[in-house]
Amino acid sequence: MKYAIVFDSKTGNTAHIAGIIRDTLKQHRCVAFGQELPKEEVDVLFLGSWCDKGGFSETMQMIVAQVHQQRVALFATCGFGMDAAYFRKIADHLGEQLPKDNTVVASFVCQGKLPQGVLHRYEAMLEKEETQAAAKQMIRNYEQARTHPDEADEKQAEAFALRVLSQCG
Ligand SMILES: Cc1cc2nc3c(=O)[nH]c(=O)nc-3n(C[C@H](O)[C@H](O)[C@H](O)COP(=O)(O)O)c2cc1C
Repeated sequence: MKYAIVFDSKTGNTAHIAGIIRDTLKQHRCVAFGQELPKEEVDVLFLGSWCDKGGFSETMQMIVAQVHQQRVALFATCGFGMDAAYFRKIADHLGEQLPKDNTVVASFVCQGKLPQGVLHRYEAMLEKEETQAAAKQMIRNYEQARTHPDEADEKQAEAFALRVLSQCG
């Protein structure tokens, strides 16, 4: 299978998942890895992003707008890990942000750790009574996110890559 992995990662979570996909498919031909779209045809194009406002980052939005008539596999990492329905919603939104002439073959979303600056912001929110309850919940989520992507996420990313291979290889 000939493929490319085009992704945007600010703090490394999405890049980590991109690396796992590439390692899982190491017997196959990866023609582009990073922020450049491949110059040649591929059997499948992986498009990955950190989750921004529930969808692709602005950088990825500009990239995906140029993708046409392609089999696409979508992946993302996001700061919240509430449940599968939340991940599903993000995956659906990524699909909606793609030009309509593409075909989504699979998608994968998992939680990623949040930058430390966010914790400082939450801690400041603790000091005001009206934002205290929300701050406590955000801090709980921050702590939960800290270990992600974890081993279970990595296994799911591998399974995702193999699922794509079985469809496009
Ligand atoms: C400006 C900004 C907006 C974000 N918006 C969301 C969001 O809407 N939903 C979400 O679950 N996480 C959101 N996050 C969290 C990131 O998507 C998450 O930490 C991601 O794993 C970062 O990936 P990266 O390490 O590849 O950059 C946001 C983070 C930032 C900095």
